[in-house]
Amino acid sequence: MRFVGALIVWVVIAVIAGAVFIWSGVYDVAADSPDWPITGRLIGDLREHSIRLRSADVKPPALNDPALVKQGAEHYAKMCVGCHLAPGLTDTGIRQGLNPRPPNLTRFAPDPSEAFWIIKHGIKMTAMPAWGATHDDQTIWAMVAYLQRQPHMSAAEFHSLSANTTVMEDHGMAPASAATAPAPAATAPAPASSAR
Ligand code: HEC
Repeated sequence: MRFVGALIVWVVIAVIAGAVFIWSGVYDVAADSPDWPITGRLIGDLREHSIRLRSADVKPPALNDPALVKQGAEHYAKMCVGCHLAPGLTDTGIRQGLNPRPPNLTRFAPDPSEAFWIIKHGIKMTAMPAWGATHDDQTIWAMVAYLQRQPHMSAAEFHSLSANTTVMEDHGMAPASAATAPAPAATAPAPASSAR
């Protein structure tokens, strides 16, 4: 009985200490302040085990079809280069300010099942978005197929594969031309159905 009483006291003390820690504001959430080693280690382990468990049943299709690789290169050029770089591109402004820093995907080919899961679902509390909200599984596999090839690819090969797209190299999510072009939807009359 005395043990249970002591346990309750310690739990109450821990809850109060946690609340004081949160409300005091002492923890610095700034992206440019380095993580404490213990926080970085714990989050890294949590991320690794969580992704391994959830991607264990993901079975990759054949990834060496050149048409699939090309489709993946086009999507990668539009959506991923600013954070993950591309052959011939060594840094971008957005990468330098991110914490955690996005991995340089020209240096290694990520495990296909894990990469598919990460691209589809994103990673909480990092800048990695969940692309499954706007892209089907086939498109995501195309990007995975491209990522298997990217570490062995020259800048010329990347540019010829993604020739039909504007490469998003820096400063946000859309090429500059899209930001300055007039938005057609804004000038078109609203369809009658949207008023109801
Ligand atoms: C705004 C920045 C940003 C964009 C845009 C972005 N990512 Fe990421 N991505 C990240 C970050 C940050 C991580 C690392 C998260 C972590 O450390 O837990 C990551 C991790 C990954 C990983 C895991 C790599 C590994 O370590 O195995 C893959 C694969 C990946 N991203 C693919 C993509 C693809 C494909 C796209 C485009 C469709 C994309 N990302 C767009 C920020 C981004």
